[in-house]
Amino acid sequence: MSTNPNNDDPRTRTQPSVAGFASEQSASLSATVQRDSEGRLQHLITLEGLTREELTALLDLAQFYVRDPGDLPARDQTLAGHTVANLFFEPSTRTRVSFELAARRLGAEVVNLDMQSSSRVKGETVLDTIYTLQAMHADILIMRDAEPGLPAFIAQHVAPHVCILNAGEAHLSHPTQGLLDALTVRQVKGGFEGLRILIAGDIAHSRVARSAWHAFTTLGVEELRIAAPEDLMPGPDEFANATRFYDIDQAIEGVDVVMTLRIQRERFGSARFPDELTYHRKFGITAERLRKAKPDAIVMHPGPMNRDVEIASEVADGPQSVIQRQVTNGVAVRMAVLATIVRNVQARRQLR
Ligand code: CP
Repeated sequence: MSTNPNNDDPRTRTQPSVAGFASEQSASLSATVQRDSEGRLQHLITLEGLTREELTALLDLAQFYVRDPGDLPARDQTLAGHTVANLFFEPSTRTRVSFELAARRLGAEVVNLDMQSSSRVKGETVLDTIYTLQAMHADILIMRDAEPGLPAFIAQHVAPHVCILNAGEAHLSHPTQGLLDALTVRQVKGGFEGLRILIAGDIAHSRVARSAWHAFTTLGVEELRIAAPEDLMPGPDEFANATRFYDIDQAIEGVDVVMTLRIQRERFGSARFPDELTYHRKFGITAERLRKAKPDAIVMHPGPMNRDVEIASEVADGPQSVIQRQVTNGVAVRMAVLATIVRNVQARRQLR
């Protein structure tokens, strides 16, 4: 096995060449490789490049799969005969479980690789793991990994009938989270026109923020604000056209939506982080701060939450919180993505 990141042989390379995957390059490569030769989505790696019509179609299909709490979940056989493999190389509760439920409710077989007991810990390359699953007729591979560029790299090497769905890629991309966030806003606010949306907290390390920015800007919100302490603000080359704030009390003034983010200590590197009490005092979404937003503003959080750090418990559990609705929408959105991708593969087969 080679661990040389510059090894150009994908059969032995363990990871993509990190040097070639700066944020911008990785994102635009992902936007290209996720489409087949007809321009249809074969994979879903990023929301970058998806048109408003494509996003709206995914949201409409997701809405079709939404059921009220207490009702039986939606089910059909769109994925009958397909095998979905969940490969989560980073921890997850919401995304992993909701992808599994979504796939089962659409009639697929599902396997969950326990990464602690998979052969990757014995040195198998990630690509060999993928080829092994592909050889067993797993045809939809859902992956989460800390390595930027890995989903695009895998997508370039799988068989033409195999689909890669990105369930969280480093700090770069979490497309199904962006879709479920957009669906939640659309359900509560009725659309995107005229909305002022604030994304607050650890923006620099957040794939959730980047995917939300792609979704909300394409769907036509009035203003997207980002607010973060200096060390957690992304560079000026990112989040084009977003209004930047370093003071949360100014940022939250008059907004329709407050999306707060988890502090992602696992990605901190050299960034400085104040103690939790200080962060909560300076940047946490408290009931007092929330009163500066519009009276009907909603509060979102992708989870998992650090209660009383980035969000006060009374806000997380309060009447303006839509956090549980986001979780419910996660299953519907993932059903919509799975159904869309599979229909695209079937359409391509019929062309041949
Ligand atoms: N929002 C989100 O990605 O949560 P999980 O890490 O639990 O999947």
